[in-house]
Amino acid sequence: MKACRTIASLRRALAAAGDRPVGFVPTMGFLHEGHLSLVRACRKENELAVVSIYVNPAQFGPAEDLQRYPRDPEHDSALLKKEGVDILFMPGDTEMYAPPFRTWVDVRELDSKLCGRSRPGHFRGVATVVLKLFNLVQPQRAYFGQKDAQQALVLRQMVRDLGLPVRLRVLPIVRDADGLALSSRNVYLSSAERRAALALPRSLELAKAMIREGEARSRALRKAVEAAIAAEPLLALDYVAVVRLQDLEEAPRIEAGNTLIAAAVRVGKTRLIDNLLLGDLSC
Ligand code: PAJ
Repeated sequence: MKACRTIASLRRALAAAGDRPVGFVPTMGFLHEGHLSLVRACRKENELAVVSIYVNPAQFGPAEDLQRYPRDPEHDSALLKKEGVDILFMPGDTEMYAPPFRTWVDVRELDSKLCGRSRPGHFRGVATVVLKLFNLVQPQRAYFGQKDAQQALVLRQMVRDLGLPVRLRVLPIVRDADGLALSSRNVYLSSAERRAALALPRSLELAKAMIREGEARSRALRKAVEAAIAAEPLLALDYVAVVRLQDLEEAPRIEAGNTLIAAAVRVGKTRLIDNLLLGDLSC
């Protein structure tokens, strides 16, 4: 595995690898099995596998956890080597945002709903860094997790709007044995908080069971998920959304193949998200 810290060395490594189809997995590191599921698919489906690790300051709000975001580059790099990754790109801030940096990508409407309400500017930071990474790596395929469903939708819109020559593959949420979706941020949770956090996946399981039994009214599903989360005193509800994929708006009834049920909560200082998707986000 070739580890590159600068754009120049990434370009050299890509050139040296020749004209092979490139798969790309962008991450912020502190890797877990969710990330590795993307890396494995990337390895399998492409001749050259490129992974980036970059904690992108532009997608963190001023009161968010940029400074304390968990990092372990040595361990990450050992994991990726073991997975057979060809190129690891770990740029620094001056490499990615050399001043004066003045170009930003806004994916309107999709960036201001759900998570965008409590994280203004977040998706602008995500779209901008991902477009830059796509331009640097020039992958044929890029891999994302359904865990961050709104992120995948924002990026899919960007790819369509700007005609980017990349296919997005969006893969299922990887969970711990207790049902909690894997997240780098789970390390922040105390054991009591972690137990409380399980109400989040449970509330989505409830929605799934209701749908199986024929419930199709968005509001009824949203209310049931909200109530299941509210029943756990350690959780503070940010939002529950039962929305269609094209505009993240709630329709009166859910539609097979075109519905996202997403929720965000706070447990202590930690913000957690999870979702249930009826549909496919790949493009
Ligand atoms: P990060 O949170 O490190 O996640 C990297 C990728 O792993 C994302 O596509 C995310 O959806 C996926 N992922 C995270 N947890 C997962 C899980 N439990 N199961 C499956 N996939 C999971 O998302 C980002 O970084 C950043 O916003 C980034 C796209 C790198 C831009 O900075």
